[in-house]
Amino acid sequence: MHDTLLLFGATGDLAQRYLFPSLLHLLRDRLLPASFRVVAIGRSEHDDDGFRTWLRERMDDGERGDNAALDDLLQRIVYHSIDLNDADAMKAALSRYADRAAVSYLSTPPDLFAPACLGLKAAGLLEDPSRLVLEKPIGHDLASARAINATLRASLDESRIFRIDHYLGKAPVQNLLALRFGNTLLEAVWERRWIESVDIIVAETAGVDGREGYYAGYGALRDMVQNHMLQLLALIAMEPPSEIDADSIRDEKRKVLRALRPMTAADAARDSVRGRYGDGVVDGVAVKGFQHESDVGTFVALRAWIDNWRWSGVPFRLVTGKRMPARATEVVVSFRPVSHWLFDRPSAERAPPNRMRMRLQPQETIELGLMGSLAAPEWGATELQPMSLDLTMSPTPKRRIAYERLMIDALKGDQTLFVRDDEVEAAWRWIDSVSDAWREAGVGTQPYPAGSWGPPAAAPFLPTTLSGNGKRK
Ligand code: BG6
Repeated sequence: MHDTLLLFGATGDLAQRYLFPSLLHLLRDRLLPASFRVVAIGRSEHDDDGFRTWLRERMDDGERGDNAALDDLLQRIVYHSIDLNDADAMKAALSRYADRAAVSYLSTPPDLFAPACLGLKAAGLLEDPSRLVLEKPIGHDLASARAINATLRASLDESRIFRIDHYLGKAPVQNLLALRFGNTLLEAVWERRWIESVDIIVAETAGVDGREGYYAGYGALRDMVQNHMLQLLALIAMEPPSEIDADSIRDEKRKVLRALRPMTAADAARDSVRGRYGDGVVDGVAVKGFQHESDVGTFVALRAWIDNWRWSGVPFRLVTGKRMPARATEVVVSFRPVSHWLFDRPSAERAPPNRMRMRLQPQETIELGLMGSLAAPEWGATELQPMSLDLTMSPTPKRRIAYERLMIDALKGDQTLFVRDDEVEAAWRWIDSVSDAWREAGVGTQPYPAGSWGPPAAAPFLPTTLSGNGKRK
């Protein structure tokens, strides 16, 4: 396992909230090598002790309580303040780490990927067997993603590049694969003949909160759909890989993403709704709306079509929004009605379809909606009732932060949960078709009050199973 982590963006929000806490947990659980150390790189001026004090103050209360582990982590950290646009400065400060098995982690905006790559190369930090980890977003559209990938490829082999989509590090997301390919019962009906529609929803109660600048350039489509939601879609829709290794899985995901039907301007009004939250109340707290001069969305609902044999004609509804009434990440698979209805009640039209509902966040639950006759039927009539089988794993296993798993895998060199260049580009190709279609058809954002499920026009895109019992994270 590699033992030197160069963490760029060390004073950023992501590092404070997830990356350092993940390292702390891994150290505490003795999952990192004894020689493990962190070279933290940021823009702010600190010496090593200054950075350690700064970081100690910013760790969650819970983490600060774990003093021994926190001390252990802090004493493994050294800090450098470096301008990533200055390749000479990077070389001067960082070449001393080049003789170790190093992993450079760019938790920076994408416009710094290319210059950072040049500086790392100059410092000898991209030589085999070193590795490079990149946070999303990889670019802003297909052209910029291609440019970033080309720069990376010129510096190191794809087998040493780790593009993060933190949803892939979440245990319930990995469970989607286990459910699909570990169960004859499911895989046998996992296709257009038996499945009527698939819903993927990622609802957040959080708002744009302090990330207005970034969000204005990205919006919900590029921030959430291009990566997390399309990865979920790809895992649900892909063909069985021949093996459970990184490239076999990524080959299949890429095929699904390539099969997404590009959205046209003619389809845009029927197959999408954009929204932006205004003032409202979430979790009993009054919150302000998202103001910006550009027409950027905080909510998007899309109907996606996968043009292949397995999924032809099956709508995949993707809905994500900020400032929703509840936090909920769910996949709902709705099956087709039985071919002939034998019972009196409820009528075939009113009987809810069999549904498999997999809630990934905030709690992992799995429910199967079936029909049964539980109550004593009236004389002469068989009355069916919907019933729900709870398939939730019990006891629920201890959950780790997604980044803990991803960090270990990057240090070990396992690419299975990281996104390959061609997947990123296939996803952007479809996203570009959506944003082009919006522009051509003039599809703008519609207002919705914070604390609601998006603009009224989005109602047909929302699964009827959606309930408001999610809790804020
Ligand atoms: C990030 C997005 O990638 O994912 C954020 O940039 C979003 O806007 C976050 O809030 C959601 O992640 P999670 O793990 O809280 O569902």
